[in-house]
Amino acid sequence: MTQRKGIILAGGSGTRLYPITVSVSKQLLPVYDKPMIYYPLSVLMLAGINEIAVITTPQDQDQFMRALGDGSQWGVSLTYIVQPSPDGLAQAYLLAEDFLAGAPSAMVLGDNIFFGHGLPELLAEADAQETGGTVFGYRVADPERYGVVDFDAEGNARQIIEKPEVPPSNYAVTGLYFLDGDAPDRARKVTPSDRGELEITTLLEGYLHEGMLKVKQMGRGYAWFDTGTHASLLDAGNFVRTLQSRQGLQTGSPDEIAFDQGWIDRAGLEERGKLFAKNDYGAYLLSLLK
Ligand code: DAU
Repeated sequence: MTQRKGIILAGGSGTRLYPITVSVSKQLLPVYDKPMIYYPLSVLMLAGINEIAVITTPQDQDQFMRALGDGSQWGVSLTYIVQPSPDGLAQAYLLAEDFLAGAPSAMVLGDNIFFGHGLPELLAEADAQETGGTVFGYRVADPERYGVVDFDAEGNARQIIEKPEVPPSNYAVTGLYFLDGDAPDRARKVTPSDRGELEITTLLEGYLHEGMLKVKQMGRGYAWFDTGTHASLLDAGNFVRTLQSRQGLQTGSPDEIAFDQGWIDRAGLEERGKLFAKNDYGAYLLSLLK
C-alpha cells in the first residue's frame, strides 16, 4: 500500500475563543505545557505517519512555521498549505490534493486531543484498511455540537448528521479521519451546506452509503477533547497536567514519539531536551536517554 500521508487542519476563524484568538491561532494556544497542535501531530506520528501537511490561515502560517519548523527535528517532513478562507473541513482534501498525490490520508483537526491506552493499535487498524475509510465514534453528553452517528437496529452506522437539533445517538464523530486516495476526488463533488461550508460529514456520507466507511467506537477508556470553548480548553489542560504529574510521563510529545519510532537518534533527542532544559518538558526528554 502507498504510505499514508497526514493532514493537520489548523485554520478556521477561532471566533469561539475570542478575545484570546484575536491575535494568535487557536491551535497554537497552550494545552498545559505544549502548543495545542503538538497533540494532534503526535497522533499522526503514533500512526507511523511522517509526511504531514499543516493547513493554516494565510495570516497564521508563519507562526506555525516557527512553532514546528520543517519537522526534521522529529524526522518528519512538514509541508505548509494555506486555506484562504474557512470554507469547510472537506476543503482540506482539495487544498492537499497535490501533496497527497493519490496517497491515502489521515486527517486530524488541529484542536482535537486524544489520549488512551491502545491508541497506537486503534490507529494501526485504521491505517491497515486500504480502501474506503475509518472514523471514530465517541460517546459525549452534548452530541448536538458535533457530527453525530445514527445507528440502525443492528448497531451499524447508517447516517452521519452534522450538528443535529435532535441527535439520533450520543456518538459524536471525532476529528480524525482515515480516508483512501479518492478523498480529493470525492471532496470535489461536495456542495456547500446551508451554512456555506464543504462539510466533512457530506464527504463521509458518500463513503458510508457505498458501504466503504467504518465507524469504530473509541470506548470509554479513551479521552477525547475538542477544546472548542474556553471551558473545554481548560479541561484539556487540566487533564494533561493531572495525568502527566501523576504518571511522570508525557502525553502528546512529538519528541518522545519520534525517538520511539526511531526517526531521531539519541543525539537528536538530546538536542531537543537541551533546548527546553529549563523546564520539566526538557528534563523529561533528557530522562528518556537514561
Ligand atoms: O471536533 C469534531 C467535530 O469537528 C466533528 O464532530 C464535526 O463533524 C466537524 O464538523 C467539526 O465540527 P466543529 O464544529 O468543531 O467544526 P469547526 O468549524 O469548529 O472546525 C473544526 C476545526 O477545524 C477548528 O479548529 C477550525 C478548523 N477549520 C474549520 C473550518 C470550517 C479549518 O481549519 N478550516 C475550516 O474551513
